[in-house]
Amino acid sequence: MKVQGLNIDDVARQFGTPLYLYDGDTIIRQVESLKKAFDGADLRIKYASKALTNISILKLLQKNGVGVDAVSINEAKLAITAGHRAEDINFTPSCVDFSEIKEAVDLRLNVNLDNLPILEKFGKEYGNRYPVGIRLNPHIMAGGNIKISTGHVNSKFGISIQQLDQIRATIDKYNIVLQGLHIHTGSEIIETEVFMQMSDIFFGIAKDFKDLKFIDFGGGFKVAYKKGDKVTDLPAIGSQLAKKFSDFEKETGRHLQLWIEPGKYLVSEAGYLVARTNVVKETPTLTFVGLDTGLNHLIRPMMYNSYHEIVNISNPDGATKTYTVVGNICETDTLGSDRELNEVREGDLIVLKNGGAYGYSMASNYNSRFRPAEVLVLNGRAHLIRERDTLEDLLRGQKDVIG
Ligand code: LLP
Repeated sequence: MKVQGLNIDDVARQFGTPLYLYDGDTIIRQVESLKKAFDGADLRIKYASKALTNISILKLLQKNGVGVDAVSINEAKLAITAGHRAEDINFTPSCVDFSEIKEAVDLRLNVNLDNLPILEKFGKEYGNRYPVGIRLNPHIMAGGNIKISTGHVNSKFGISIQQLDQIRATIDKYNIVLQGLHIHTGSEIIETEVFMQMSDIFFGIAKDFKDLKFIDFGGGFKVAYKKGDKVTDLPAIGSQLAKKFSDFEKETGRHLQLWIEPGKYLVSEAGYLVARTNVVKETPTLTFVGLDTGLNHLIRPMMYNSYHEIVNISNPDGATKTYTVVGNICETDTLGSDRELNEVREGDLIVLKNGGAYGYSMASNYNSRFRPAEVLVLNGRAHLIRERDTLEDLLRGQKDVIG
């Protein structure tokens, strides 16, 4: 298997395994296809950096005209370190202390507030001196599974659309300059209809807020994890939303920017988790492939029951057999069950696809194992963009008080 003409085996030999490998061309291709899908609108793409925060990735996106959506002050600081301008960074945290909002204001980020108490504090502190956005909860159930659905009535995210009167009252009380409306309903949304419902909510209230500059539809575009998977119809969403924005402009004479915050769409497919087979273990019921990675590096299968395609790149012509692919963590860490793979032998290299989004960024040192190295392929060359952890990393910050 190759990435930009490079054999993944060669890259694995050079940098060792386990390894996160990213294809820069795929990321750029995804940016371009978003721009194309939304070309009738005044689009601003804010990459949901929680998906993958390596500064080389943040820089690559910045160079391709993409800003950042940050959900913690540290994500924002990483984006600034990578060269993003504060005005291109969204700050959409959930349930943070007001001190973090103040820090975001000091950095001059685009702040979106997600609860009424913090809107009140914001009004008291800043009045009309700092434009701000609000994150709404639209009461829409959408997304691949409940853990990644954020817009339903019982979700902690956003201010309920049933609390609009309170939002208005707080805005009036402090003369708050409301520059943006924001909704992120969930991840892996297939239905075009969900985005149209969001648009109805936004344009139903946009006229009331005279300072609005943007409407932000969040992320959540579904990518394919396996052949035949349904994906979000972005050209349909892009053209329908562009029309809503231009209708609004015709009707009111006011121009609004359309913001989106894709994470998975930009980086999921670009990433591969490359691992080596430590053992092939036959039991009376199953054949396990035990890898030198596990849920410490890719938690998605165990956390969301997600499917990642798995390929044995060392034996492409081998007869196929059925395997359960697991990690080396002392906990059930199944990465794929009942998978047809070309016969796997000890030492074979196994590739897990769609590893770019929420792979490394959710990785941990569980079982005191090292997080993998990260490599980015640009212009046909592989660059190490993060070293594998070392024992010093595991010990960093620890204090021996026993003596
Ligand atoms: N904007 C906001 C405010 C978000 O909270 C998120 C994701 C996004 C944008 C981007 O969503 P995306 O385009 O990547 O679907 N760890 C889970 C996904 C959690 C998403 C959390 N918020 C997973 O691996 O499936």
